[in-house]
Amino acid sequence: MNISVIGAGTMGNGIAHVFAQNGFAVNLIDVNAAQLEKAVATIGKNLDRQVAKASITEADKITTLNNIFSFNNVEEGVRNADLIIEAATENIELKLTIFKQLDAAAKPGAILATNTSSISITKIAAATKRPENVIGMHFMNPVPVMKLVEIINGYSTNKEVTNTIIDLTKKLNKVPCVVNDYPGFVANRILMPMINEAIYTLQEGVAGVEEIDTVMKLGMAHPMGPLQLADFIGLDVCLSILHVLKDGFGRQKYAPCALLVNMVTAGKLGAKSGEGFYKYTAGSKELVVSSRLK
Ligand code: CAA
Repeated sequence: MNISVIGAGTMGNGIAHVFAQNGFAVNLIDVNAAQLEKAVATIGKNLDRQVAKASITEADKITTLNNIFSFNNVEEGVRNADLIIEAATENIELKLTIFKQLDAAAKPGAILATNTSSISITKIAAATKRPENVIGMHFMNPVPVMKLVEIINGYSTNKEVTNTIIDLTKKLNKVPCVVNDYPGFVANRILMPMINEAIYTLQEGVAGVEEIDTVMKLGMAHPMGPLQLADFIGLDVCLSILHVLKDGFGRQKYAPCALLVNMVTAGKLGAKSGEGFYKYTAGSKELVVSSRLK
């Protein structure tokens, strides 16, 4: 099966990494040549971590890298694909444009999947002439580590397409979980209200950043507290998913906390901007609470 991945950001490079590592030829596509080069270098570094931990050999690393082919041109990169996974920026207009383009360029019968974390699969499918072949394949970050793939059936998704994606997920040594297309699916419908509630807890002065994260880490065995996880996901992404939940269900309980809105407005987006609930310094793994929130 030939795989193409659209978008060479964090999710796109992680998705290409796991397919290539499991023996699939992958076309990694990004219109930005510098981004594409960076993505292949990142995959190499992440494979080095796996070699250092002896979870793969140096030879596996080379085979994996040799399975990845870079493309700047979408039409060329998807021409022979049986499955195309879109992992572009989370923007509905952009995704609708990409899916129209993929529908025109991909061979008949090719499956068009999206890694969207919150945009309606049914809406994306409706932009194509093959809605029965459109499905959600939601990987979690970091993709090489996280076992789950949330598979989302759109309103028209064909059962055979779902079964193909389930089998494929198992071949990646991941666990498929099939859900239906409602706002936030399952992962973010449950995760985002928890993160939002953690921010309300901070805003109301119930406890500090470290205390909130420690309660959830040590009390509930979460690998990261909800505020650190929000920084890791990106506060802008959290805010946008909360908007999708609030607009989609029309329920006030999903309304984003004002502190979250303020932080995004101030450009404090979490790890990627250098500051969110914590302050990030390149090369340091130490967790330092943002001085603004102490
Ligand atoms: N590629 C390959 N391996 C990686 C990696 C990567 N990008 N990142 C981490 N690893 C490996 C490490 O090499 C290490 O391997 P071993 O277990 O073999 O030793 C392991 O993962 C753990 O990494 P670290 O020791 O460096 O760090 P850690 O113990 O802090 O773990 C973590 C890092 C896996 C990210 C962990 O903190 C964690 O599980 N965090 C929560 C992640 C999470 O919740 N993700 C979901 C986010 S939500 C989402 O993605 C969906 C959405 O729609 C918003």
